[in-house]
Amino acid sequence: MTQAIIEADGTVLNLDGARYHALWLRDNALDPDTRDPANGQRLITLNDLPAQVTLSDVAVEEDVLRCTFAPEDKTVRFPLSWLSAHCYDRADDDRLLPPGVETWTADLGSALFSGDLSAMKTDRGALRDWLAAVRRHGVAKVTGMRAEPQELFEIVALFGYVRETNYGRHFEVRTEVNPVNLAYTGLGLQAHTDNPYRDPVPTLQILACLENSATGGENMVVDGFAVTEQLRAEDPAGFDLLTRHTARFSYSGSAGVALTSRRPVIETAPDGGLQAIRFNARSAAPLVDVPFEAMEGYYRALRRFSELVDDPAMQITFKLAPGEAFIVDNTRVLHARKGYSGAGHRWLQGCYADRDGLLSTLAALEATS
Ligand code: FE2
Repeated sequence: MTQAIIEADGTVLNLDGARYHALWLRDNALDPDTRDPANGQRLITLNDLPAQVTLSDVAVEEDVLRCTFAPEDKTVRFPLSWLSAHCYDRADDDRLLPPGVETWTADLGSALFSGDLSAMKTDRGALRDWLAAVRRHGVAKVTGMRAEPQELFEIVALFGYVRETNYGRHFEVRTEVNPVNLAYTGLGLQAHTDNPYRDPVPTLQILACLENSATGGENMVVDGFAVTEQLRAEDPAGFDLLTRHTARFSYSGSAGVALTSRRPVIETAPDGGLQAIRFNARSAAPLVDVPFEAMEGYYRALRRFSELVDDPAMQITFKLAPGEAFIVDNTRVLHARKGYSGAGHRWLQGCYADRDGLLSTLAALEATS
């Protein structure tokens, strides 16, 4: 039997050791005068509550807590399951990762999650599992697409909307390798997050393959959160430098565009949890927000981050076939293209989309399945 006790002159409820403030309970009351029963939105502001809220009476009735607030003399009920799901009385933990996120290294390899496009269009379970893989690992593949232009929009339509940029609604990643010039090799690129010079950055990127007969040209992904965990373990002070000081990123490579941002390479929440990674050597602007005394340490930490990104033990490499695609969480997972050689063609199309819409679709699917 759950014990409900009023403490601290009525300002605190103790429910089997888990404490809740009277003010918090009153603010989160689930009654139809406080929350709209249809859309769940709050109907009051804090200013509608008395300056001093206390509990005058509490009782547990089966699986519900009934409580009465003074001075309003208002009685509301909370399911005990709701209270335990929203409990905030716990010791501070040192969690670096957001809930539901699992870091990975090269070992994930062939276990990289893949979803079939036509299955995901018709089967809610298949879509839910693929979206959950994106939330968990920040990357997933798609198979079963038509190898045709703009088919990548079919992936975005599974969960949300395209984010258009100055590169267009989608962009072409196409290189004709010249078979008469064997000296030519397509440039390999270091793994990076896209467009760190935007604020906010595009949070999802999708790359779909239409042709890939060139030798090489594999895609590679690295978990920026795994790199960050490793850096923090090796050099906590260096990790702090990359979180505490903002970097600068810029792009002005086409007429009429002059994008700049001022954001850290490793962005953390006020509680220290990881929020986002921005890492892109090509778009890095001069560092002007790192104090003189901290610059050497900052560069040392950034150099180590960069080495870890290039470490094959952190990387998953795969070659897309026509009709295949992959999605990355661009706030977490870095991607790269290996160099090309030999004859053949490589043609990918890319676009951006929004992660909040993907997570919303996933949460709604999970709530109804
Ligand atoms: Fe890129």
